[in-house]
Amino acid sequence: MKKLSEQSTQFGFDFVALKSTFEAKYGQSDEQLICSLAPARVNLIGDHIDYNGGFVLPCAINRYLCILVRKNSSRTLSYFAADLNASFSFSIDAPAKYDEAFGFANYLNGCFAYLKESGFHADSGFDVLVSSAIPIGSGLSSSAALEIAFILAVAELFHLSITRTEAALLGKRVENKFMGLKSGIMDQFVVANAVSHTAMLLDTSSLRCEYIPLDLQHSDFQNGKDYSLVVMNSNKPRALVGSKYNERKRECEKAFAILKQVFIVPDLCSLMPQNLSRAEYVLQSACADKDEAAVLFKRVRHCVVENDLVKQAVAALREKDLKSFAEFFTKSHASLKNDYEVSGAELDSLVSNAIKTEGCAGARMTGAGFSGCAIALVETPKVPAFKKAVGDAYKKECNLEAEFYVCDTVNAAAVFGL
Ligand code: GLA
Repeated sequence: MKKLSEQSTQFGFDFVALKSTFEAKYGQSDEQLICSLAPARVNLIGDHIDYNGGFVLPCAINRYLCILVRKNSSRTLSYFAADLNASFSFSIDAPAKYDEAFGFANYLNGCFAYLKESGFHADSGFDVLVSSAIPIGSGLSSSAALEIAFILAVAELFHLSITRTEAALLGKRVENKFMGLKSGIMDQFVVANAVSHTAMLLDTSSLRCEYIPLDLQHSDFQNGKDYSLVVMNSNKPRALVGSKYNERKRECEKAFAILKQVFIVPDLCSLMPQNLSRAEYVLQSACADKDEAAVLFKRVRHCVVENDLVKQAVAALREKDLKSFAEFFTKSHASLKNDYEVSGAELDSLVSNAIKTEGCAGARMTGAGFSGCAIALVETPKVPAFKKAVGDAYKKECNLEAEFYVCDTVNAAAVFGL
């Protein structure tokens, strides 16, 4: 395990201060202190298709969540969220259960419970401190970062061998079974496997991935311009558990159950665009409720169109043609808004103002939607004017202050000695 310099600045944390907060909370000890750092992610294109067998194109960005862990001499597992000043303690021998009152600790308990289920045995209790610069509930995968950072930290602490894919699948299981959100694999997979200066083209039906070079600020692209990846935070947080997310998943399952009787495909995203009108006919014939059939068809069309847009966008990215690449963002946003109905007034305002601002090549919501964050590719010299124009228009339309982060793509989560 590499040692992290306390002076290291690249992750945005003051490690001297974090270490002393940890020691003020849990005391001094000779046990090894481990630091696990996990990045946020944005999805560049391909939303709501990772649970329908589609291709997605996420990357990790330079905002991090940090977990410090150290063994203690008891059978107690203690968590402290330094930014929220919230503490929880559990026995490592008690079965873990979800409890709303435990807040963020549920994610950690879920990971710990499933690690135990897979044969892991903790020989002692341990103390945990969490600090995060990833805004919670904003569509940047703060929960996947929490899960992956914790799983990797526990694996290092107890010398457990676990692959990155296993860690991602375990995190997904926590979301699906422990937290009740029927999400796909994209977030955990990219947080665990991202490579800097690339976007990850992930085939969610096989978990095969390819890293597509994405050099933002520093390259000479086809049209001779440098672009910046700008994340636009609507500052309207949402909770996904209990949102329409699971409803969308159910709608897709229902549509697929009908369509697979006619089309020989393994998932919705494997339908060809030219089969869409037949799919519409099949849904209309199978459903007694014609309005429901129309809704199901819109969900199916989104899956097929979005999957196709990912492929076209990747072809442009391979050519280093960022301008065309970003044009697919805007098309994707329209599909998420109109057919999948997972955008919202705030995200629509950010995106529509972004695309009419000079220097913006394209914009779209990112992640689950329903508020949260949107992204834009903007010519680098025009970023300050872009932020001002979009921020002002958004304030006028939605009466909220947007935040803007100009991001770099970074490597996956990593564990260090501190
Ligand atoms: C959330 C889920 C992901 C994915 C996105 C939408 O982030 O965790 O699995 O479905 O929404 O693309």
